[in-house]
Amino acid sequence: MINNKKILVVGGAGYIGSHVVKALKEVGYSPVVFDNLSTGLKQNLFPDCEFILGDILNYAEIKGAMAGVGAVIHLAALKAAGDSMLVPEKYAVNNVSGTINLLNAVSEAGIKKIIFSSSAAVYGSPKYLPLDEKHPTNPENFYGYTKLAVEELLSWYSKLKGIKFVALRYFNAVGYDASLAITGEEKNPGNLLPIIMEAVVGRRPKVTVFGTDYETADGSGVRDYIHVTDLAQAHLQSLEYLETHDSLTVNLGTTKGISVLEMIKAAKEMSGVDFPVELGARRPGDPGTVLADASLAKQVLNWEPKYSDLENIIKTTLSVYKKNNK
Ligand code: WQD
Repeated sequence: MINNKKILVVGGAGYIGSHVVKALKEVGYSPVVFDNLSTGLKQNLFPDCEFILGDILNYAEIKGAMAGVGAVIHLAALKAAGDSMLVPEKYAVNNVSGTINLLNAVSEAGIKKIIFSSSAAVYGSPKYLPLDEKHPTNPENFYGYTKLAVEELLSWYSKLKGIKFVALRYFNAVGYDASLAITGEEKNPGNLLPIIMEAVVGRRPKVTVFGTDYETADGSGVRDYIHVTDLAQAHLQSLEYLETHDSLTVNLGTTKGISVLEMIKAAKEMSGVDFPVELGARRPGDPGTVLADASLAKQVLNWEPKYSDLENIIKTTLSVYKKNNK
């Protein structure tokens, strides 16, 4: 636990941000949520937690939120990789310019610790597996580029302004907190598990498998799915880490792959709903397999996934979609 318990969670009304807020509260921090609610949801806010409606693009607003804060956790970004290739301007402004504003406010306020939500998207297509942090960064979509650009900005602000950071490279975030305290769903999901869930509850006619001819055991795409409760825990450990260490860039994943067909099979079995599945073509730009080497996180943060097994991922997500569908 760091001395100053007031932690500013920028993007705290989002899917991952709200889980981070819950984890902070549980161990005695006083998180303050800053969010413009463009993709974040009121439904994800906790009544006993301070909320500031504001935008990182507005310097006065983000600067105003820094008063008395001990550390900043920055999860505010647009994250649809496909969309970022169609409207890069939107991603450049929100993800890069917005973060420059935030870093200037952090610097002006004299805050020295920041945890940043980065992504496996900084690596691009794997040249080897599992991907460790030394793997070359070569983003293949503009979204991934914005995450890499922010990592570089963090390095410079660290050198020039003495701000220490942890950049957490999330692999595929999934699941919900088991308490069902957070029930916000992704709007217009492009990701596999929310799409499967919409089919389970009858809001979508079918699930399409994007490619069955990959060099994987069953031909479908394999990803490293990491439960959001495990991700949230890593933020707590990162705050502690910065008390006594320098900056860090680290992967968060399991190294255990789950294929699209395995995910669909488990969702059918656990829900009892035999939703229609179409075997389709590959989605352009999708690699066959993406897996994290997460040994650095274990070694330096003492972080290990505890909730990321296939059954728990499906169980917690299914509970939320069923609750919302009543
Ligand atoms: C997972 C697997 C698809 C939908 C994306 C971003 C990445 C990161 C996480 C933020 C793949 C397959 C999917 C469907 C399918 N975002 N699939 N049918 O592509 O690994 O990563 O989200 O940081 O930057 O690119 O995640 O959930 O879209 O796909 O068969 O309807 O499911 O081909 O193999 P992805 P995903």
